[in-house]
Amino acid sequence: MILTRTDGTVLLLGIETSCDDTATAVVRNGRTALSNVSTNQDRFHAKYGGIVPEIASRQHVALLSAAVEDALDRAEVGLSDLDGIAVTAGPGLIGSLVVGVASAKALAYASGKPLYAVNHLHGHIFAAFLEQDLEPEYPFLTLLVSGGHSQLVRVDSPVETRVLGRTRDDAAGEAFDKTARLLGLPFPGGPAIDALARSGNPAAFSFPRHRADRGSLDMSFSGLKTSVRYFLESPAGRNVDRADVAASFQAAVVAVLIDRLDRAASGGEYRLAVLSGGVAANSALQTAFAAWGERTGVRTAIPHLRFCTDNAAMIAAAADRRGAAALSDALRLGADPNLPF
Ligand code: KG4
Ligand code: ZN
Repeated sequence: MILTRTDGTVLLLGIETSCDDTATAVVRNGRTALSNVSTNQDRFHAKYGGIVPEIASRQHVALLSAAVEDALDRAEVGLSDLDGIAVTAGPGLIGSLVVGVASAKALAYASGKPLYAVNHLHGHIFAAFLEQDLEPEYPFLTLLVSGGHSQLVRVDSPVETRVLGRTRDDAAGEAFDKTARLLGLPFPGGPAIDALARSGNPAAFSFPRHRADRGSLDMSFSGLKTSVRYFLESPAGRNVDRADVAASFQAAVVAVLIDRLDRAASGGEYRLAVLSGGVAANSALQTAFAAWGERTGVRTAIPHLRFCTDNAAMIAAAADRRGAAALSDALRLGADPNLPF
């Protein structure tokens, strides 16, 4: 177990470098972010229309030491004040993960503090309880939608999670990013589509919505993206209002996600549902998710925007919730790009 101080507080440094955000944070008791620093690399990847793993990894090397210092300074603590160091060990880009893991190992070794290996997806799940008047009520359901993942996860405890359904192809965020590219919007595409869709009509075009087989909670978004592409290349699609296309595409993604959520919760066993991951920042999805909660009577929770997209506070929060995940030999920890739940 994580050792607590005599005053009952646990102070963890979080490090997250699984993709393209170099993120560090200091979190108290898994709930309060004393600092949450994230250096966005978007400008280095934007011209390629997606994340270039080699660039991401090099940028982490260049940025991480200063980001650790920054998180400690902003929280007004030193390494010696910490109770441990939590780091994302996977899943993610291997070249990016190893930078965070190596750095966390070095810090743990030098300071004598325990090291906690955290699954990135657990981070997204437990982000919901950061700085909110909310405690987990097990079992709860999480709709985890990011650039790399789209899954419905049943959470029975901080260490027991089960994937109930997942995308068969593109993640929801990936579909946003690829469709944004078709629309000539900048990377990352999610926020750009979200913004453009505000002035569009979601019912203007009827793009296909993936229908799952009976009993399945899987989803698919690649057909939707391809259908937007064919439409834009067709004569009918040449002079359309791009805001209408953005809004109609977004409506289709939201409809699929809410349909699978609804199916997952149809047994009535969940009293809480969490929406998390970068796509949880989407305004149409947030509205539909809240409306679903009202309709079904399931309490809904969405992390604060700063904890929705990749961040290190969620990694420290998940480590704190897990408690028992301490590794006694910090030097043995490796990064695993395919780390399962
Ligand atoms: O969780 P995240 O920061 O990184 C991953 O672990 O993937 O998610 C990034 C994804 C990107 O695909 C981005 O386009 C999407 O989240 N995203 C959004 C919005 N903000 C970020 N998608 C739709 N609407 C948004 N407002
Ligand atoms: Zn993520």
